[in-house]
Amino acid sequence: MAEIKTIGVVGGGQMGSGIAQLAAVNGVDVWLLDTDANALTRATKAISSSIQRLVSKGHLSQAIGTDALRRLRCTSKLEDLHSADVIIEAIVESENVKKSLFSELDKIAKVSAILASNTSSISITRLAATTNRPHQVIGMHFMNPPPIMKLVEIIRGADTSDDTFNATKVLAERFGKTVICSQDYSGFIVNRILMPMINEAFYALYTGVATKEDIDTGMKLGTNHPMGPLELADFIGLDVCLSIMKVLHVGLGDNKYAPCPLLVRYVDAGHLGKKQVSIIYPCIFPIPHNEN
Ligand code: NAI
Repeated sequence: MAEIKTIGVVGGGQMGSGIAQLAAVNGVDVWLLDTDANALTRATKAISSSIQRLVSKGHLSQAIGTDALRRLRCTSKLEDLHSADVIIEAIVESENVKKSLFSELDKIAKVSAILASNTSSISITRLAATTNRPHQVIGMHFMNPPPIMKLVEIIRGADTSDDTFNATKVLAERFGKTVICSQDYSGFIVNRILMPMINEAFYALYTGVATKEDIDTGMKLGTNHPMGPLELADFIGLDVCLSIMKVLHVGLGDNKYAPCPLLVRYVDAGHLGKKQVSIIYPCIFPIPHNEN
């Protein structure tokens, strides 16, 4: 595939805005699309202040920072993504919503374009099946926050071609990332292992094993994790964690992946984590012990 000059990013939340920033800083023109105009305003502000911070700390030159902001354009019209060589989807973690987007992207994207998903857990093969270009559909799973974290997990669907895989790998490496490859099973590598641990931390809190502070301190100092599992859930988004647990539960067909009722309860109440208000710190609900 020729050099990638333009990418489209669909979804301007915490992951989409981070991916857009990463691409722009690495000399790629970016169209960032969201159906919510407020999300685009928030994304533009977040990208701009993140770039300013990186410049002031000496991690980025002023020239690259200014160039990156010039490369970034926001839109709410899918047709604007027609010029993109690669389109990276980073919308809500819902299979049906993603499927309907992939089917629309297939209609407006140029014939040679790769359609990538940043999904944490959903089958790439099933997303690809909604398009007429399954060989050009792939999972490109960035870690949070994308400009900082060193890993990209690449997932091939059943029909993903070698050309698509190689072009995606080259793009991730151009962004300075280390690539790992996963088979297309629910949760892939990272979330297959991480999410059950986070879910178990919620169970420990739910069943009164320990306080939230002791659970997090235990995992930080006891296993050398930089962040405790509850704090990490707060950072990822509790809605995202719950969606991933549901995909693991259904996709792997084992009750050990059943989402903890306390996690369900927080999400039902609209307490989603740092992207909204911090719910774990401070914990605003009494810790239930006997809830079924
Ligand atoms: P988020 O909730 O911060 O942002 C999602 C954005 O998508 C919102 O701005 C929303 O308005 C927009 N959106 C929803 N439906 C749309 C549509 N049909 N068309 C255009 N825009 C639409 O979510 P976040 O955390 O950025 O996650 C996005 C994806 O990235 C999910 O698939 C998630 O599983 C994955 N992911 C999340 C990570 C995390 O730590 N939060 C880490 C790695 C992957």
